[in-house]
Amino acid sequence: MRISQIIAGERGLSRTDVIATVCLALGLTKEQLFCRMDREIGGEDLGAVRKALDERAAGRPLAYMTGTREFFSETFSVNEAVLIPRPETEVLVEEALALIGGRRDLRILDMGTGSGAIGIVIAKHAGSSVVCVDISEAALAVARRNARSIGVEERTRFVCGDLFAAFSDGTRFDMVLSNPPYVADDEWDELMADVRDFEPARALRGGEGGLEVYRRIAAELPRRLAPGGSVLLEIGSEAQAGTVGAMLEVAGLRVKVRKDYSGRERVLAGHG
Ligand SMILES: C[S@@+](CC[C@H](N)C(=O)[O-])C[C@H]1O[C@@H](n2cnc3c(N)ncnc32)[C@H](O)[C@@H]1O
Repeated sequence: MRISQIIAGERGLSRTDVIATVCLALGLTKEQLFCRMDREIGGEDLGAVRKALDERAAGRPLAYMTGTREFFSETFSVNEAVLIPRPETEVLVEEALALIGGRRDLRILDMGTGSGAIGIVIAKHAGSSVVCVDISEAALAVARRNARSIGVEERTRFVCGDLFAAFSDGTRFDMVLSNPPYVADDEWDELMADVRDFEPARALRGGEGGLEVYRRIAAELPRRLAPGGSVLLEIGSEAQAGTVGAMLEVAGLRVKVRKDYSGRERVLAGHG
């Protein structure tokens, strides 16, 4: 069967998705695929293409199939233990880098690090040390691998724990960064199947209103932020911007909101 026929015959997926999946199955770049559209394939190659297209049609994210995702121009390894880093989260990283400026002595925490996307990019671009926490050992294994491949192993420390539980009472940070789980319970069933059925629920579900982890982080901030410190939190909706903003004010912080490039309120910054 010709490659062009396979692509034309695939109904359930977008053309972009089909092309990316066929490239993956055949180990070709897009350019190589376009030069081979009239080539006949069969046997093992055809089997591999069919299998990959079936997996993708069942909703398995391409990033899990390739095992990688670009974030802030770095290549991160990903698997089903970690959330696939999203482009919107780059806004939080931009804000953090602007706040850090040239300082290298800040104590920075990435809470809920997952693949390590936020903490690793900060360590690389700001040259600072970052402590990265996650409750999932499997996620931390991925994050450690990424720190090594991106060349910031020396500047990152990975800690397994439930939010701040692993730190002794006196530990304070100059900057707390987090993209916590924020999908509300009543939004769970409406979530795209690619996300709901394949990405780790613990990385996504934020309880009632999606606010559970924000509430716990905000409650700890008065004794976890150093004087003059900042917290940057990714948020999932305007409603969360209002509620979480109020939580940060109760914690004694001045609050600012930053929009993402599609104009949605995306990052809350709280400054001491
Ligand atoms: C939305 S994901 C963010 C992953 C990554 N920071 C990113 O932006 O791509 C949230 C992460 O928080 C972790 N997490 C959830 N509850 C936690 C808790 N109580 N303590 C520490 N980490 C937690 C999850 O395992 C998951 O890796």
